[in-house]
Amino acid sequence: MKYTSFAMNSFAFFLLTIFFTISNAFPLSNSMNKRDVFVPPITYPTNTTVWNSGEVHNVTWDISQAPVNITNKIGRIQLRQDDITFPLVLAYDFDILLGSYNITVPLVISGTYQLVLFGDSGNFSPEFTINGV
Ligand SMILES: *[C@@H]1O[C@H](CO)[C@@H](O)[C@H](O)[C@H]1NC(C)=O
Ligand SMILES: *[C@@H]1O[C@H](CO)[C@@H](O)[C@H](O)[C@H]1NC(C)=O
Ligand SMILES: *[C@@H]1O[C@H](CO)[C@@H](O)[C@H](O)[C@H]1NC(C)=O
Ligand SMILES: *[C@@H]1O[C@H](CO)[C@@H](O)[C@H](O)[C@H]1NC(C)=O
Repeated sequence: MKYTSFAMNSFAFFLLTIFFTISNAFPLSNSMNKRDVFVPPITYPTNTTVWNSGEVHNVTWDISQAPVNITNKIGRIQLRQDDITFPLVLAYDFDILLGSYNITVPLVISGTYQLVLFGDSGNFSPEFTINGV
């Protein structure tokens, strides 16, 4: 029994290895023809927005220019300041075609920040104010 399950695991691993070898051997060239990079502009917050840490706010972006086939539909929102994107994730694993997503404003030093909306690549919001500590 033990031997059987070991053999099954090895076989599964073997199949996985083949799969990754094949997918690496044939990179995106095929799917790139059908799929498009989509970097929607953030429409809220704007450059006059003021948020307080701990509040829930509805980040919104413009999906009107969305191509039919998007390369990566999974969205992620991060915070940025002075050209540095923090490794702090405010929201992730949502459909970028939603066009909006609620986030909780993190506790930060009061100042000027930007949001980064990641799909295929990152898009920055205008600079806005967060009142934290
Ligand atoms: C979108 O993808 C589908 C299925 O892969 C394909 O049939 C269609 O032609 C693509 N459309 C565009 C506009 O690329
Ligand atoms: C804020 O955005 C508005 C509208 O896009 C623009 O007219 C204005 O110049 C911006 N202000 C600053 C300080 O960037
Ligand atoms: C999103 O946030 C707003 C307040 O900004 C709240 O009224 C609404 O219920 C929230 N929606 C979800 C799905 O959490
Ligand atoms: C966020 O705002 C958009 C546009 O104003 C609205 O359609 C959507 O229902 C809002 N979502 C939440 C969760 O509040």
